Amino acid sequence: MAPRYCQTIPVVVLLILAIVGILLVVLPAREMETPPENMYGIVLDAGSSHTSMYIYRWPADKQNGTGIVTQHSECHAKDGGISSYAGVRGGAAESLEGCLEQAVKDIPKSRHHQTPLYLGATAGMRLLNIVNATESQRVLKEVKHKLQSYPFKFKEAAILSGPAEGAYGWVTVNYLLENFVKYGFVGRWLNPVKETIGALDLGGASTQIAFETSEKVENKDNVMELKLYGQTYTLYTQSFLCFGQDQFLRKLLAHLITTEGVKPQVSHPCYPLQFNVSIKLGEDVFDSPCTQSYRPPQFNRQMSVSVVGTGDYQNCLDNVKKMFSFENCSYSKCSFDGVFQPNLRGNFMAFSAFFYTYRYINSLTNIPITSPSRLKEAIQLICNMTISEMSEKSMEKEKYLKNVCAMSNFIQVLLLQGYGFDKSSLPSISFQKKAGGASVGWALGYMLRLSSMVPAERLGLTKALPAGPWVGILFLFITLLLIALGYLLMIFRSTRIKEGMV
Ligand SMILES: *[C@@H]1O[C@H](CO)[C@@H](O)[C@H](O)[C@H]1NC(C)=O
Ligand SMILES: *[C@@H]1O[C@H](CO)[C@@H](O)[C@H](O)[C@H]1NC(C)=O
Ligand SMILES: *[C@@H]1O[C@H](CO)[C@@H](O)[C@H](O)[C@H]1NC(C)=O
Repeated sequence: MAPRYCQTIPVVVLLILAIVGILLVVLPAREMETPPENMYGIVLDAGSSHTSMYIYRWPADKQNGTGIVTQHSECHAKDGGISSYAGVRGGAAESLEGCLEQAVKDIPKSRHHQTPLYLGATAGMRLLNIVNATESQRVLKEVKHKLQSYPFKFKEAAILSGPAEGAYGWVTVNYLLENFVKYGFVGRWLNPVKETIGALDLGGASTQIAFETSEKVENKDNVMELKLYGQTYTLYTQSFLCFGQDQFLRKLLAHLITTEGVKPQVSHPCYPLQFNVSIKLGEDVFDSPCTQSYRPPQFNRQMSVSVVGTGDYQNCLDNVKKMFSFENCSYSKCSFDGVFQPNLRGNFMAFSAFFYTYRYINSLTNIPITSPSRLKEAIQLICNMTISEMSEKSMEKEKYLKNVCAMSNFIQVLLLQGYGFDKSSLPSISFQKKAGGASVGWALGYMLRLSSMVPAERLGLTKALPAGPWVGILFLFITLLLIALGYLLMIFRSTRIKEGMV
């Protein structure tokens, strides 16, 4: 009996070693370790109508690559955008407090000091900069001081240029859709052959379009070259100031008041029939650089005007078109207002106010925007609805509903006549608010670019064990296992034979 045990023990040890080895190689490392700690980043999107805060999160041991940064939480500040606090000392800074307090709670304390904090201001501050540059600088400085008083790593508070805003939106969209790089099954980063997607953004004071192009961009202000993951992308990017939702509606109102003449009651073809609202000529209409050209020579800023809806699709459309100029193009081709635009290319994602308008069209009519004629059909229905029909169908506030006919016509003219979408390209627009769990906007792209988290260079191998050696080691352990099993079998057989002979 004794010699058999002496023979078996080393083989059993070998067997256990082989099994443990195989398990170590095959089982994912993460299950054996504690989950990796997270890093965080904060971006404040200081828009014209309000400020939003986005907190992003990524594993501390990884920074590069798409799909790694995800949205942790968001916050929407009450009241107006920081530019609305012009002339109100301390107002802009105070408006951010609520969200910043939330950030302090949302991010683990141990990570506060490592969390980069950015604030980007857009068209609202661009407009204030036109009206009073000293005041816009004062607001920005005040906001910066506020941000520095929190325990985070303050990086920047700046006014983004229009083209940059468009480009950051494009980076966000394509990062979230993993169009730059993809983590392949063999543990390698791959440059996918996928086409990138264009970005359509509609804010309160401006609208942006950005897409990859191979055509010559005739105005150098519209071109941006981005090097991402070893690939160079040439972008066409354009921002139209005063073509955001609020400023466009203001221009439309100013145009109607000017053409009808300043009087106590003005009719509005885009408001629902008999809908009636009172406005002040100064603060609601003419107190903006966007409506300056419509200003009558003499008017009382405090005068109230009653605006009464007529719910007239064609008349509304005709007036909306007057906000665009399709003449005077000094390039080979233009979108509108003399702005160069190459031919549209590929698919597009439309977000922010594009998405909200699209959602209203959908909830009020159930008509999908699959062609220009379907879009027209839907808008005609909407412009013919009374305000009570609208609230019944959508359960939304009158405040928003009164503008749906005007906004739908606006995006119809902007997309079709302006940018040149047609029967074949209109269906290539997907209207979205979120992608991959994150809000679509410029904020994520801004943080990724400024923190170099989308590096210019191609990525190398990032798994601890690359595919080749990993398969080799696994093969070695399996061989060991088979040898041990075979040897064990041999020992048992030979002892059986011996026992049989006894
Ligand atoms: C990300 O990429 C940049 C540029 O290639 C590199 O400098 C940086 O170390 C990388 N970061 C990580 C965590 O791999
Ligand atoms: C611009 O803002 C400053 C305060 O920052 C104020 O003193 C000045 O009067 C303003 N200028 C105009 C033209 O409104
Ligand atoms: C609009 O409302 C005001 C007061 O709310 C009223 O005096 C006026 O007659 C209304 N006009 C129309 C056309 O309904």
